[in-house]
Amino acid sequence: MKEYNIAVVGATGAVGTEMLKILEEYDLPIKNLKVIASPRSEGNKITFKNTEYEIESIQKGTFENIDIALFSIGSGNSKKFVPQAVYEGALVIDNSNAYRMDDEVPLVVPEINPEAVKDHSGIIANPNCSTIQMVIALNPLKKNFKINKVLVSTYQAVSGTGLKAIEELKNQAKAYLDGNEIKSEVYPHQIAFNAIPLIDKINDNGYTEEELKLNRETKKIFDDQEINVTATAVRIPVVYGHSESIHVEIENEVDLEEIEYFLSNDENIKLIDNPEEDQYPTPIMSEDNDKILVGRVRKDLHNDNALEMWVVGNNIRKGAALNAVQIADYMIKSNLI
Ligand SMILES: NC(=O)c1ccc[n+]([C@@H]2O[C@H](COP(=O)([O-])OP(=O)(O)OC[C@H]3O[C@@H](n4cnc5c(N)ncnc54)[C@H](OP(=O)(O)O)[C@@H]3O)[C@@H](O)[C@H]2O)c1
Repeated sequence: MKEYNIAVVGATGAVGTEMLKILEEYDLPIKNLKVIASPRSEGNKITFKNTEYEIESIQKGTFENIDIALFSIGSGNSKKFVPQAVYEGALVIDNSNAYRMDDEVPLVVPEINPEAVKDHSGIIANPNCSTIQMVIALNPLKKNFKINKVLVSTYQAVSGTGLKAIEELKNQAKAYLDGNEIKSEVYPHQIAFNAIPLIDKINDNGYTEEELKLNRETKKIFDDQEINVTATAVRIPVVYGHSESIHVEIENEVDLEEIEYFLSNDENIKLIDNPEEDQYPTPIMSEDNDKILVGRVRKDLHNDNALEMWVVGNNIRKGAALNAVQIADYMIKSNLI
């Protein structure tokens, strides 16, 4: 079987660390592994499959023998280094926002549009974490009905901002409980015991980039310009697992039994929906479950064509690292690389 040289770029970060774990779990046919981070981490060691690897920083020629480079180093750094990786011959799967909406860059959720990978010109983009879990939950509905409108409010974990944000939440929670001064460096406000209704940059139209990503990425993944998503994205003091309250308007009248049938028969979804027995998804449940968890499914009180649901997903795994590895796995198994 053919083996591949793989680089994990951002190997010390929240996503990169999980990426290495998933590469072990998935057992991709890896010939050589390169672990790459910033010059700050150069020379440090990372253990992968019981072997120690020395962390490298990006130099001229870093990607010359690399078949697949999995990038998780933020948009600015991706804009700087992805062109080099492509020039040096690597196929890049990028976790940042840098290339997602470029026409020649496929935006892929393997459960939904795997065939889109064929149109790549060296870069495949991983969608935003909140988009991935939403489109997986919408997919069984999209396959069976025309979706007219989606309203979503997100409740996003701090791990979505990276390792420094996890530290900030933990430090603030401790300071709060100890009665000490609370310092905020990653977020503009205290995140412990609080909620921040602004993620990413604010635009002139009053929406944040994070909210607009949910709209434009959904259209691209479903290849449907008519599906309109209006979002409010909120950061909450949870470490792992994004939650979303989703209102979906479809062309037909909602038959709840039918909706539940489609959701429960989708292999990428776990329906946990028995609220009388306190059974519904919570973010902690996503820590050891790679499916998208759906619950609280109900018909809208005032609109026969609409339903509400609560959707939880692991933002670091399916929302980032796992999706990227699944793209690589698909490319390999389909002999596309
Ligand atoms: N966290 C999520 O839920 C999530 C979900 C979807 C997408 N993403 C995307 O994934 C990317 C990384 O996020 P993260 O949460 O893992 O961030 P993070 O925890 O802050 O990690 C950032 C990583 O980038 C590396 N890095 C920084 N500057 C670099 C440079 N000049 N050259 C090489 N490596 C460099 C860091 O290395 P050092 O340790 O040496 O500084 C670290 O490994 C971002 O684009 C983010 O938008 C994250």
